[in-house]
Amino acid sequence: MQDYNIRKKLLLKEKLRHNLPLKIGELEKEKLKSDMPIQLIVGFIEMQNVKILLKDNKLLIPRYETEEVIIESFNYINKHSKVLDLCCGTGFIGIAIAKNVNCQVSMVDIDENAIYSSVENAKINNVDKNTDIYLSDLFSSVPKTEQFDLIISNPPYIPENIVLDSSVLNWENHQALFAKEKGNYFYRLILENAKSFLKPKGYLIFEISDWNVNFLKKYPNIDLKIKKDINNKNRIAIIQYKK
Ligand SMILES: C[S@@+](CC[C@H](N)C(=O)[O-])C[C@H]1O[C@@H](n2cnc3c(N)ncnc32)[C@H](O)[C@@H]1O
Repeated sequence: MQDYNIRKKLLLKEKLRHNLPLKIGELEKEKLKSDMPIQLIVGFIEMQNVKILLKDNKLLIPRYETEEVIIESFNYINKHSKVLDLCCGTGFIGIAIAKNVNCQVSMVDIDENAIYSSVENAKINNVDKNTDIYLSDLFSSVPKTEQFDLIISNPPYIPENIVLDSSVLNWENHQALFAKEKGNYFYRLILENAKSFLKPKGYLIFEISDWNVNFLKKYPNIDLKIKKDINNKNRIAIIQYKK
C-alpha cells in the first residue's frame, strides 16, 4: 500500500482537478489510512463532459485510457447512430457517447450494481431519455431484432495470472477485471456473436491491452485497426467484419 503522505497528496491533486476545497476531513483521513482508491474517496470522476458518481459497490472506476477509446468512437458515429455499450459498469462509455453525440445508446452489464449505477449516472447527466440500460449476459437480453451502427466494449481483459495491487483487488470486482483465455475470452465471445447485432458496415470498438493484440490479429474474417494510447500502449481495436 502507498504511504499515507503520498495518498494525501494524490487526494489533494484530485480535489484540485475538480475545483474542490483543498481540505481533508476526519472521515477522509480515515479512508486515506486504508487502500481505498482516491477517486472513491472523492466520490466521483469527471471526464468527457460527464460526471460519474462512484460508490463502494466494487464497480470498475473509469480509467483515463477509456476516455481515449470514447474520443476515438466519435469518428464512427453521429446523432442518428444506434450504439450498444457492452459491459457498461458505471455507464461511463455509453453515457459519454449519449451526451456528446446525442444519439441512442443501449447499455448492458451482468452486474445488478452496474445497472443501478448506470441508471443513476444517466439521470444526473440528463441522458436518461436516449439510453436503454438493462441486465444482460453480453447479448443474451439484447432484442434479436436490434441492429447497431457501433458496438463498443471495455470488457474484463486482464489475464487471470496477473497479480494486481490490493487497492484494485479489494475495491473492484474480479468479475470486472479478469478474463479467461489469457484475457481474450470476452473478445472471442463478442466477435462470435456480434455480427447479427450490427448493421452492414457497422463497427466494433474494443478497449484492449498489449497482450490482446496477437489474438485479435489472428481472428479470422475481420478487418482490424489498432491504435495506441497516449502512453504508447496498444489500447483501441477498431473492427469490421469482412463480408
Ligand atoms: C472493465 S469493466 C468496464 C466498465 C465500464 N465499461 C468502463 O469502461 O468503465 C467490465 C464490466 O464488464 C462486466 N461484465 C463481466 N462479465 C459480463 C458479462 N458476461 N456480460 C455483461 N457484462 C459483463 C462487469 O460487471 C464490469 O462492469
